[in-house]
Amino acid sequence: MKTLLTQVQEIFDTERFLAEPKELYAPIDYTLRLGGKRIRPLLLLAANQMFDGDLSQVRNAALGIETFHNFTLLHDDLMDKSPLRRGQPTVYRKWDENTAILSGDTMFALAWRYFLRQSHARLQEILNCFNETAILVCEGQQYDMNFEHSGHITLSDYMEMIRLKTAVLLAGALKIGALYAEAPDSDIARLYDFGIHLGLAFQLQDDLLDSFGDVAVFGKKTGQDIRDNKKTYLYLKALETGAPAQRERLQALFSTTPAQDDDKVAEVLELYKILAIRRKTEEAVQEEFSLAKGALDAIQVDEQKKSVLRQLTETLLNRDK
Ligand code: IPE
Ligand code: IPE
Ligand code: MG
Ligand code: MG
Ligand code: MG
Repeated sequence: MKTLLTQVQEIFDTERFLAEPKELYAPIDYTLRLGGKRIRPLLLLAANQMFDGDLSQVRNAALGIETFHNFTLLHDDLMDKSPLRRGQPTVYRKWDENTAILSGDTMFALAWRYFLRQSHARLQEILNCFNETAILVCEGQQYDMNFEHSGHITLSDYMEMIRLKTAVLLAGALKIGALYAEAPDSDIARLYDFGIHLGLAFQLQDDLLDSFGDVAVFGKKTGQDIRDNKKTYLYLKALETGAPAQRERLQALFSTTPAQDDDKVAEVLELYKILAIRRKTEEAVQEEFSLAKGALDAIQVDEQKKSVLRQLTETLLNRDK
């Protein structure tokens, strides 16, 4: 039996995104064929399987959710000024900013095209979930940018921001997969809750890897959140636990954007080290993972049906990319 990951990979291996004008489509093909972990389509398929869905019915939805995710990345890299993704130059660097905007916009529409290809009794609900999720992601992205310029962000503001920018898409992918399988609403709600906590853990890990990851594995330039003055969990925890002088220094560092910013990154990382921020953030990751597992436990299907999501959760727990 093929693993779900193999099935997801096959879906993307056979899909090309090349058309005219090539200036519009080449960056789309480049992005979608660079790979990535394919977490969202995997979650969608796993949820569908858990409720005995028909995988051939969710192929387009899997493509749609991943195409939407990749659209957010094109715009996110422009907003975050990130040079590298999946070990390769970001679209706005390889081409230019206008290309990232327009190819990104097109990917959002292509995502819709995928979803519209497959008829289903609950299509209205599925499309509604997809679209409402997209709106929440944009709201989260706006908060993320607002916070760059605000000095009064709390840990709970941060958790709400990452719920919106990241967690709702993982939860939405699961919900959509379950809707295609006509799962009961009570279990869909539990699955959504699982996705939210998994997504919160996932973004906390992303923030950790941004500071402490290995570029060669992570595929993104490290220290970028510090350069961008992102009010991540790491930064907010350091503010909370630091002595007054350390707090003041951090706040000063996070209100400038020097042209030569390597010294800033090094100084912040040193402060994080002194304050054991890595361990404290890992604790928050663990907490979200156990909440996720609790939500998965509560779903009313045979234990054996949960094994794919359990395995996926374990794999994510130890991720370094
Ligand atoms: C990156 O998502 C954006 C975040 C929400 C952290 P992924 O880490 O899933 O990126 P890819 O698709 O695997 O490259
Ligand atoms: C990503 O947050 C959230 C979305 C793309 C919606 P990040 O900005 O941390 O993601 P990466 O680190 O660039 O992948
Ligand atoms: Mg980014
Ligand atoms: Mg961002
Ligand atoms: Mg990040």
